[in-house]
Order: sequence, then C-alpha cells, then structure tokens
Amino acid sequence: MDLIPAPLTADWHEDAPPYVFGPAPVLDAAPGTEGTARWLRRELGAATGWDLPPGGRRGTSGGDVDDGGDGGDGGGAGDGDAGGGPDPGRIRLRLDGALARRLGPEGYALTVDGRGAQLAGASPAGLFWAAQTLRQLLGPDAYRRAPTRGGERVWSLPRGTLEDAPRFGWRGLLLDVARHFMPKDGVLRYIDLLAAHKLNVLHLHLTDDQGWRIEIRRHPRLTEVGAWRPRSRRGHRASPLWDETPHGGFYTHDDIREIVAYAAERHVRVVPEIDVPGHSQAAIAAYPELGNTDVVDTAALGVWDDWGISENVLAPGEDVLRFYEGVFEEVLELFPADVSPFVHVGGDECPKAQWRASPAAQARIRELGVDGEEGLQSWFVRHFDGWLAARGRRLIGWDEILEGGLAPGAAVSSWRGYAGGIAAAVAGHDVVMCPEQQVYLDHRQAPGPEEPVPIGYVRTPEDVYRFEPVPPALSGTAAAARVLGAQANVWTEVAENRSRVDYQVFPRLAAFAEAVWSRLPAPAERDYAGFEARMAGHRRRLDALGVDHRPPGGPLPWQRRPGVLGRPIEGPPPNA
Ligand code: ACM
Repeated sequence: MDLIPAPLTADWHEDAPPYVFGPAPVLDAAPGTEGTARWLRRELGAATGWDLPPGGRRGTSGGDVDDGGDGGDGGGAGDGDAGGGPDPGRIRLRLDGALARRLGPEGYALTVDGRGAQLAGASPAGLFWAAQTLRQLLGPDAYRRAPTRGGERVWSLPRGTLEDAPRFGWRGLLLDVARHFMPKDGVLRYIDLLAAHKLNVLHLHLTDDQGWRIEIRRHPRLTEVGAWRPRSRRGHRASPLWDETPHGGFYTHDDIREIVAYAAERHVRVVPEIDVPGHSQAAIAAYPELGNTDVVDTAALGVWDDWGISENVLAPGEDVLRFYEGVFEEVLELFPADVSPFVHVGGDECPKAQWRASPAAQARIRELGVDGEEGLQSWFVRHFDGWLAARGRRLIGWDEILEGGLAPGAAVSSWRGYAGGIAAAVAGHDVVMCPEQQVYLDHRQAPGPEEPVPIGYVRTPEDVYRFEPVPPALSGTAAAARVLGAQANVWTEVAENRSRVDYQVFPRLAAFAEAVWSRLPAPAERDYAGFEARMAGHRRRLDALGVDHRPPGGPLPWQRRPGVLGRPIEGPPPNA
C-alpha cells in the first residue's frame, strides 16, 4: 500500500477484491468530526469530483442517527439499499475515546469493508491522520486538485483494517523564512505537506540577521526596514557571487492568523521563533538603539547581506527587554496558546565580542552580578523564560540556553548534536532532538559534485531514515520520556526559493516522518530497502502534489547550480 509513514499494524485482506466507490459517495460524519469532514470535502472532493453529501446509515453499527436527508438511506433517493440502485459508497467518521486509552491521543483505526471506509479517531487529530491515510490508500491521483479522467476514474481501496498511532508527539520541520523569505502561500503549502506526512509542528524561524519577517505594529520599522536587504550572496560564504536583486518580504498580522488557523485545521502547531540576543542585525538595522551603540555605529548598519553569524547583537539593557516584550506581546496575540503553547526565543550563536568591548554591557554584568558575558546571555533568556511563563506559555530555545541554567518549564531544541538534549533531559527539561549532524536538511544529500550548492555533511535519505531521536545515553532511562520528539531543520542561505527548499526537504522528510511516527527497530536494523520500495509509490504522490523532490538518480539539470560554491564538510559527521 506504500503507506508512509508505516502504520503500527495493518491487516489487509489480500485475497479480497478492492472496495470500489460508486460515483457519488456520501460522508457520514459523527459529531466532533466536522474539521476532518470539511478537509475531506475540500481535498478529496477536488481530486475526485465528489460532493460527499452528508449521509447516515441506520442500524449498521448502533447509535447512528440517520440524517434522513439526501444521500441517506431509509428510503432517500440515491441510496442503493432502499432504492435498488448501486450503493454510492460511504466514508464514515467518528471519534472513539476507547482508542485513546489503547493508542494514545493521536491514535486512529481505519477499516475498509463492503460498506466503504470507516475512520475512527481517538481525538480530532487522530481522525485527521486517519483521513491522511485514506488519501494515501486512494492513490497518487487523490493528491491532484481536479479529476484527471472525468467520470471514468474508479476509486477503490484495499479491504482490511489498520490501527495506528505516533511514537512521538512532536514531529516537526523548521522552515528558515528569514534568510530567504517564503511567501505565505508557500508556507500554507508546507503545512499541507507536513500534514500529508503526519508531521504536526511547523517551527517558523521568523527573524535573523538577514531579515525580520513578522509585522509588529508597535515597531513598524522592523518590517519597513528589517524585512529587506539590497542584495544577497549567491552561494555560501566563500562564494564570490552576488545576486543584486533586492530580497525581502514579511507576514502581516492577518497572514500570520491565516497560517496559524490553516495549521490548526490540519492539527499542525506553529512554533514562532524570535531569535535573541544574537542573530539580530535586521532588528538593529531597523532600530539602532537596540544594538551596542557604545562600540559600533549601529545607525550605519543595514540588514545583513551576507551569511554567517553577525557580531551585531542586542545590547543587554532594560529598554531592549521592554522593546522585545512588546514584540512578544504581539506574537502571543497572533499565536494563541492552544495552537502554540511553545514560543521559541532562539538563544543560539550569540558572539560576545561587542559585550566584552562595551562599557555599558560590562557595567550591566557588574550590576546584575552575573558571570561575565555568558551570564549576561543567560540573564537575557531567563528574563523571557519568566515573562512567557507568567503568560501561560513555555519557552523553548536552542541548546545554548542550557548554559546558564533554566527555569523548570523551559524546553530545549538540541541542535549541536545530542549532548545538549541529553543534559537537558537528565536535568528534567523537555527536549526536541534536531541534531545538525543528522537532520539538518540544508546539508547535502549525496556526495556528488552535481549537488546544488553543497554544504555540510552528506546526509542521505537512508541516513535520515536511521535517525533515532532517543540516543543510547537516554534509552531505557526515565529521562527518555523528556524527549518530546524531533524536528528536521531546513536553513535557507543557499535555498533561495520554494523549488530549492523542496529539493533539500524531499524525499528526506518522508524518511524523517517515518523515523518519528513509526515504531522502528534500532537504526542498524531498520528495513531501508522496504522503505525505499514504498518510497517509489510515495514519489508519485509527491509528483501529483508538485513537489520538486530530488530524484533517486540525482538532480535534474535545472535543479543544479553549476559554479555556485557551497561549503561541504568531508567525512562522516561526528557521532554518526
Ligand atoms: C542553529 O542552527 N544555529 C540553531
């Protein structure tokens, strides 16, 4: 059936003929399933041409209420049982709390029998994953936006039963929309792509040295100035090439509200990241007083046009805290707690040279009684930890935030390998594993010279398939429960548009999805050949969706970037 990610259990009736839908199936949606019903009507309806009118069936499994209307049975026109015509077929949706006890909150069951497809979710989220599985079972054409063969297309499903539930509750992708902006429709598309792989967290890296991407009404220059740069380096840092096209863009409040609501309908949580106190040159270019004005002429700074880590970091002053509290107030308004309980504050890669040179920063260190510049960084992050906690949110930050000690509710994104995540979990913090050596999708996916702008380690789809979120040091310990899950991160310095992002992300995100959803054996024992065989079918779904994935044989001519320098790292990654 080429299901990706692989389900927990599946019992297909291999000898039985497939179940064939009539030309106008009905959708029997029990209370609480309206969201998935809406999604099915929109997505499957577009691909199949089905209207999926409501329809109930009395007496088939107890407690059903016949809607008594069109498409229902009990004598209604269009239902074969009473009227003598062919059965139109039925997709039935319901919630089943008993599944939650057995399979957890996102579990679901899907059965295909002589009456059609019955989908039961432990929760609305579980039911939605069931609907995603249904779409996969219907075949690649179910991913198109219009019927391709008119009324001649017959839609069928294999008969059988499957039960499924994810291994982890946090199954994410980070999109770096700061280095290269991804317009809103691209983000909505990625939410659909995540959902199609049963991934449920979109981490949006909204601010960096090279651009500020979220409208903040009380500080309008953040986007008037901070969302644009005059040019971009083409290729990695060593590349002598420049793209002189001005680059930029940002999401308005309504864009963000739309993204968050669209994600919520698909059971995807959005984690906004506002990076402090480093990676802040775009903000400083907009408001020079945010920088270390006693050591640099911040009024002369622009949004950075180069890659790397800017030395221009926030000044450690009270006014800067107040400014960012204002930013976070708007962020909390736009990302409601039920969809975005976590707020990411970055905290990574903050160069300390300006604080060392700044008399004001040094005075601040003495005044606060903190341990040098590192203590100052920790003070900065702790401030927002308390500030967010007081507002019912949880701070998450890159593993550097561990260095100064963290408040109990804060969580860590472990990116510099597993070590930060292990230390955080042992210290009682929740952890999201995203080690750069394993799941940074900006890293090249094959060793050949034809990879576009190759950077980092070679991380093949097979490497990603063998990624294990719980490292041996935690496996079997109580601290393993602190690993909420994992996310793949795609940084976009050399991925300048949607097509380049697709190329870096796919097919590896499909392998990642299976590594975080399915109950796979230990990395060395995983059946990669089996995954690859299913992947052949899955690529047809990606094609129907218009994803510019990397073909197994290497990049197509227009996917290459001849002559644009990357920065490949030779040899296997450490702790691979
Ligand atoms: C990171 O890659 N600097 C989180």
